[in-house]
Amino acid sequence: MKIESFPRMTASHLVKSIDLNHHGTLFAGRMAEWLVEVGFMTARATLGCQPENIVCARLHGMDFRKSVGSGDTLVLEGRVAYVGSSSLTVYVEARSFGVSTALPYTDGLVTFVHVIETRAAPHGLVVETPVEGEARDLWNRVLAERHFQQRTTQ
Ligand SMILES: CC(C)(COP(=O)(O)OP(=O)(O)OC[C@H]1O[C@@H](n2cnc3c(N)ncnc32)[C@H](O)[C@@H]1OP(=O)(O)O)[C@@H](O)C(=O)NCCC(=O)NCCS
Repeated sequence: MKIESFPRMTASHLVKSIDLNHHGTLFAGRMAEWLVEVGFMTARATLGCQPENIVCARLHGMDFRKSVGSGDTLVLEGRVAYVGSSSLTVYVEARSFGVSTALPYTDGLVTFVHVIETRAAPHGLVVETPVEGEARDLWNRVLAERHFQQRTTQ
């Protein structure tokens, strides 16, 4: 199966005063929460499993490029970036509705692990390694992070 054929999930949020930090802009922790939510929904739609069979293992590579103001509508979209044997990494980007920018305001990767009860278990998803375009770039980015993580935990 091609990685591009997996479902993409989107969610929109109105930024309200409860979402703001001490600068009066969107709090990073709220953005992280929304990012993980969209990542989770994307992982679940892809694996087609029950919520209890997915846990979040890692939130990584999150960049905040532009601050988001109160009253803005933030649109987040998740797509699968990497498929392991029991893990799945989702790339999520967030853009401000009605504002066109080359780079998203915020983006990041979220890795989920398929579990049975509390133990990692193969999810059985088979995917072709992408050979071109953004899909290949995301795949290689996650692969490089996995190698780095393995080296630093040995
Ligand atoms: C995620 C968890 C199930 C992994 O269990 P584990 O026995 O360490 O699993 P393994 O070492 O066998 O790794 C299984 C897979 O998960 C991946 N993985 C495990 N920990 C990871 C991490 N911190 N970051 C990225 N990937 C991770 C491994 O790379 C492996 O991927 P692969 O099968 O696709 O090659 C376990 O660490 C856990 O339960 N963590 C807490 C999860 C949680 O509570 N999340 C909510 C936080 S708010």
